Amino acid sequence: MTTQTHWQAWHEPYADENSPLSRRLRLVQQHIASWLDQRPDERVTVVSACAGQGHDLIGVLASRPDAHRVHGTLLEYDAGNVAAAQAAAGQAGLSNLVIRQADAGQLSSYVGAVPADLVLMVGVFGNISDADVQRTVAALSQLCAEGATVIWTRARRAPDLTPTVRAWLRDAGFVEEAFHAPDDVRFSVGIHRLEGAPRPLDATGMVFKFSH
Ligand SMILES: C[S@@+](CC[C@H](N)C(=O)[O-])C[C@H]1O[C@@H](n2cnc3c(N)ncnc32)[C@H](O)[C@@H]1O
Repeated sequence: MTTQTHWQAWHEPYADENSPLSRRLRLVQQHIASWLDQRPDERVTVVSACAGQGHDLIGVLASRPDAHRVHGTLLEYDAGNVAAAQAAAGQAGLSNLVIRQADAGQLSSYVGAVPADLVLMVGVFGNISDADVQRTVAALSQLCAEGATVIWTRARRAPDLTPTVRAWLRDAGFVEEAFHAPDDVRFSVGIHRLEGAPRPLDATGMVFKFSH
């Protein structure tokens, strides 16, 4: 028997479809699906930072007949989660997804994976310092292709950082397309589109360090 790491066990509430985590997942998935519906391109690219077991992207693509259009890279540090995401992608026949065991806080991990049309920062901003959130938001346009969409999440535990995150995104050239903050839960989900110009990746940069 192998022992589960904290970050594998973190995924357990997904088994309960009424858990806040499952509700957050459904919102993220709805936005991934509608983003795909709005992008008729033959090929679109996605990068997911701290992708975990990939429930959001893999969950959507598994039921999409046009999944082959999506070329994606999932960056995840935990070996067990990498294996789970690889198994799920394999089972769904998603051969255009690469699951990379890498530190998503290091911009060198994104080489070859960006610029992406969709950037997933799901379950990241609540696990890093406020200064690292600011640094990551400021670097986001390095991960983005022109007109890219970013889907991000952040718990609204006090003091709620989300008004500041939204202001940082505005300052970084993003327009807000949606922001979900249901009253009965602490999570929030933001959808932002890059209106400013993408910037080339500075692969020497470091944007965050996870608090484990
Ligand atoms: C809060 S979970 C979110 C997982 C997934 N995005 C989701 O929402 O289901 C954070 C994930 O980040 C991973 N992680 C932690 N530090 C990381 C790092 N430096 N680089 C990449 N992944 C990291 C953890 O192993 C965990 O799977």
